[in-house]
Formats: sequence, C-alpha cells, structure tokens
Amino acid sequence: MQPALPSPLDIEALRKRRHGMRFGQRIEYFPEIDSTSSHAEMLARAGADEGTVVIAEAQTRGRGRMGRGWSSPAHRNLYLSMVLRPTLAPEEAPKLALVAGLAATEAIGEWCERARVKWPNDVLIDGRKVAGILCEMGMDGERLGHVVLGIGVNLNIAVEDFPDDLRDKAGSLMAAIDSPVDRVVFADRLLTRLQTRYDEMLRDGFGAIRPHWESLSCLTGARVCIDEPQRRYEGTVLGLADDGSLRLREDDGKEAHVIAADVTIVGGYARPGGPSHR
Ligand code: BTN
Repeated sequence: MQPALPSPLDIEALRKRRHGMRFGQRIEYFPEIDSTSSHAEMLARAGADEGTVVIAEAQTRGRGRMGRGWSSPAHRNLYLSMVLRPTLAPEEAPKLALVAGLAATEAIGEWCERARVKWPNDVLIDGRKVAGILCEMGMDGERLGHVVLGIGVNLNIAVEDFPDDLRDKAGSLMAAIDSPVDRVVFADRLLTRLQTRYDEMLRDGFGAIRPHWESLSCLTGARVCIDEPQRRYEGTVLGLADDGSLRLREDDGKEAHVIAADVTIVGGYARPGGPSHR
C-alpha cells in the first residue's frame, strides 16, 4: 500500500511531542540535505547540546556503514541524526551503535512484532533490511567529544520503488504491515526508545542492555559465515560478548569473537520468537 500523495512530515507536531524531552529538544528540519549526519556533525562541533536532532525529507548523499550510501527518496522514510555527548571512554562508544539498534528494533516492533536486530545494528523484518544505523565518533584530543548517531528507517516506501540492487534485500515497515505509518508518531517513539536505552546503558552498563538485544536478535543460534580481511569465520552464533562483539562457536569447537564485519546467514534467517516488546 502506498499513501496516495506523499506529503512533508509535520515537523511542528513532532516538536510539540518532544517538548520537555532531552532527545529532540531541538530539531533542525530540511526538505533536502546532503546528509543529516554531516549536518549533525557540524552542529556538534559548534557545541550543540546532547539530544539535538536533524531530520531531512530527502538526502542527496546519505551515508551508510563501510563507505556505502543510503538510498534516501523524499517524503517516504525517516532520515534522522542526533548529537550525543556520552561520558564514555572512546573504546566504549561503538556499543552505542548496538544500543541504538536495540532501540530502533523496539520502536519498529511497536508496529510489527516480527522486527529483529541483525548484528551489529541492522533492523530486519522477515529477512529484509528496514533500518540501518551509522554511529560516528568525534574526538576531543584523547577524549570522546561527541557521537553522531544516524538512523535511516524505511517506513512508507513500496518495495518496487527501491533501486534495483536493493529490491531483493530491503523492506519497509509499510510493506511488512500492509499499512502506511505516521512518520511523526514513529519519530517520536524512536526518540523515546533511544533515550530510554541510552540512559540505561550509561547508568547500568552494557550488561543491562545485552539480554534485551539478544532476545531480539535474528542471529542467535544461526549458522553464519563472516568474511574479514584477514580470515573467514564459519560457525553458530552464541550471542553478544560484554564488549559488543559477536560470539561464535566455530566448527572446530573454539569460541571466536568478531568485532565488526558483514554477516551472511547460511541457509536463511533464524526467526526466534523472542518476548513481546510492545
Ligand atoms: C547502514 O549502512 O546500515 C547505516 C545507514 C545509516 C543511514 C542514516 S540516514 C540518516 C543518517 N544520515 C546519513 O547520511 N546516514 C544516516
């Protein structure tokens, strides 16, 4: 189903919903921009407060992980970046990408309980990627100065409107539930979920997040194949380690921890039931 006339997001309605909240206390909105994350990075360097958000209807140079792009057509989806100023050591910052992946999966799960997180932080529904997260650190000397969290969520795009190379692997929330999604309500729920999980990680540590992440993971128990520049891993996913790396039982019985890579699932997706996360 496709909304008849794609229309701009009602940004004033979103600002009203975020009134008094830390995440989304200030929202900069653009009909079109190169990348919301590039703009948020510029705002962060200029001293913007934690929770400052940038949203655009369309991006001309949307950025993905590992140097890839992010398809960003107008009026259908959500392209959002946010400034964070966590009191964390730089080596802890990548865990924020996992925390954000959990929060995004939970937000999408409010509409579709088949939403799952695929390590490190993609959100999939029925094996199709619906959301991606880019977590970029800004250093202040030796210290972590800020983090820009960029999130793209395919909300109201029809699968036939994806570029050819994405059509068999990308999906949208609308396609999954056969109904268009109110982008203002979605953005509000996403920011609330992000704030809750972020605060929990800073207060209680990543160990408090891990079981929730694992319960929504589409990889736990799956046989995977992971290519890194130095070597290939093949084995069964055990879960997450304390440092956010993926724990694998390799075929020779040894346990391996993989830090950052693209994961291919051998023989399709495992779809564990997982607890309800509405
Ligand atoms: C991925 O490769 O899965 C991460 C995709 C991240 C895309 C989002 S869209 C909003 C923000 N601005 C960007 O340029 N990228 C992120």
